[in-house]
Amino acid sequence: MHIKHHPVLGKKLQNPVTIYFNDQPYTAYEQQTVAAALMANDIKRLGSSRNLVQPRGLFCTRGRCCSCYATVNGENHVRTCMTRVEDGMKIYPNDEDPEVRGESCGD
Ligand code: FES
Repeated sequence: MHIKHHPVLGKKLQNPVTIYFNDQPYTAYEQQTVAAALMANDIKRLGSSRNLVQPRGLFCTRGRCCSCYATVNGENHVRTCMTRVEDGMKIYPNDEDPEVRGESCGD
């Protein structure tokens, strides 16, 4: 669910774009972060933890924890909470890259 009216956001979220998560199209809005757009579309699982293979998603929402890593436009380990959406952006969960996933952040 996208927030339609917000006293701080005002009219910032007016221009819709299409993003793709696992090749499925979803509506997002310019200025939104990838993580916010996915959450608004009820997508909360962004990958799996390296050691325990448990679901990962938003945690700190400020670029500190690496829990929101996903593959965006072919680039692994993108912090989706710090990356703004772009029209046509292709996003995949960070499930199939266990080596890189563990380099900078632990489980
Ligand atoms: S949620 Fe912590 S870095 Fe994105």
